[in-house]
Amino acid sequence: MADVDSRVGKTYATHEILQWMAEVHAPHDEALDLAFTAPLRTSLPAIQLGPSEGKLLALLVRLTSAKKVVEVGTLAGYSGLWIARALPESGKLYTIDHSEEACRVARSSFEAGGVSERVRIVHADGPAGLEAIAAEGPFDVMFVDADKARYDVYGRWAAQNLRPGGLLIGDNAFFFGNLLEPNNAAAHAMRGFHADMARFFDSVCIPTPDGMAVGILRDSVAVPLD
Ligand code: DHB
Ligand code: MG
Repeated sequence: MADVDSRVGKTYATHEILQWMAEVHAPHDEALDLAFTAPLRTSLPAIQLGPSEGKLLALLVRLTSAKKVVEVGTLAGYSGLWIARALPESGKLYTIDHSEEACRVARSSFEAGGVSERVRIVHADGPAGLEAIAAEGPFDVMFVDADKARYDVYGRWAAQNLRPGGLLIGDNAFFFGNLLEPNNAAAHAMRGFHADMARFFDSVCIPTPDGMAVGILRDSVAVPLD
């Protein structure tokens, strides 16, 4: 039964169970497989979400009936493909990445997945990309999976640019296990992200392998512009 270890996922989850779950609940078609394995054929790092997390994103997008989604950190387009497929035909995913190679690989992932029409890839550094798309808002969902030292900036932008009831989702919310390090600027930024989520959103952190924070923007929050 639930003891200290089982509550943190150490006792029950095994590689085999997690793989079986992914195959049952979040199976890949050819396009998802291509996007997932892109790091094997390119110089992109293999730091994409797992299939179960991708499916979770898709369900969250559908639950909010989202039409406009922002993603920071495109990589090969694996998470973006899950998101874009969960959108209606008239929906739009704005996905931002500073890497030209990531944008190129993601473009082919979206083409293979049949969602190119629904995706705008923004080749820019995170904050500049957000500034470039802000006029298209307010947005329904924002997924942050990019430079950890700027999660505080991205979280604040979300509070200012999501609609009330909109969702903010942040990967790597445990910051690779370093979240509580006292003298680490990026850990400090990640803790700021959590503090802002709790302040402006109804939020929770799901204990995925590296934590997935999810929050619903409260109605009529006054978000300071600093
Ligand atoms: C890294 C980044 C991620 O977003 C992730 O999910 C895992 C690892 C990284 O930079 O190493
Ligand atoms: Mg990540």
